[in-house]
Amino acid sequence: MTCSAVVPAAGRGQRLGGREKPLLPLAGRPALAWVLEALSASGVIAEIIVVASEANREAVESLCTALGLSLPVQVVIGGAERALSVRAGVEHVPDDRRYVLIHDAARPLVTPELVRRAIAAALRHGAAVAAIPVTDTIKQVASDGRVVTTPERSTLVAAQTPQVFRLDWLREAYRRAGAQWVTATDEAMLLERAGFPVFVFPGDPENLKLTTPIDVTIAELILERRMR
Ligand code: CTP
Ligand code: MG
Repeated sequence: MTCSAVVPAAGRGQRLGGREKPLLPLAGRPALAWVLEALSASGVIAEIIVVASEANREAVESLCTALGLSLPVQVVIGGAERALSVRAGVEHVPDDRRYVLIHDAARPLVTPELVRRAIAAALRHGAAVAAIPVTDTIKQVASDGRVVTTPERSTLVAAQTPQVFRLDWLREAYRRAGAQWVTATDEAMLLERAGFPVFVFPGDPENLKLTTPIDVTIAELILERRMR
């Protein structure tokens, strides 16, 4: 197996009222547990590197131990921004891995099938991002609220994780970005800026990100339905 997974889980959940999303119980188990089990069950991941914060490190370590997954799980410490946390995780990926999969702990509805689809797309393209069509009309607006432009909706998609990259491309993208790497809101953006071809593959509309309380309600309903 040639792909490591990096799972950023060091956020503070501010838009959720400061609740730690990785440890948030959803349908009976923490969000991070759903993620780690899906990665493990995919059968295409060699090891998992979970990026925790100083504050949740102990809880994250206990959870990883309690799950008793059959693949190695390592917990490392992240930074104040998602970009810093992901980079800290990527630095722990063994040099002989060909690919790295990045998946947010805040997306607990990921399935083993979606993980396998992500790897298959990366094997084909070198850099692959889960994405779904946008259903709203998106407007670019100025700071005073005036609409600047309305991009043609059929050309827009919403990016999710998993995102999978050739490890050598991602490392080169960090090098080429210089000090700018920290401003990227996802790692695909770094590769795009560095000139690597990045392709989307079909994500899953159910693979939502826990951001605000409504996402928690919906995620729980979906997980309960899946368990029936
Ligand atoms: N993340 C991280 N390190 C950070 C910030 C975010 O590892 N310094 C992780 C989060 O734990 C989450 C993912 O990146 O799994 C996506 O981030 P987001 O949804 O923004 O989560 P939070 O930063 O925790 O939430 P908020 O922005 O509302 O504080
Ligand atoms: Mg955040």
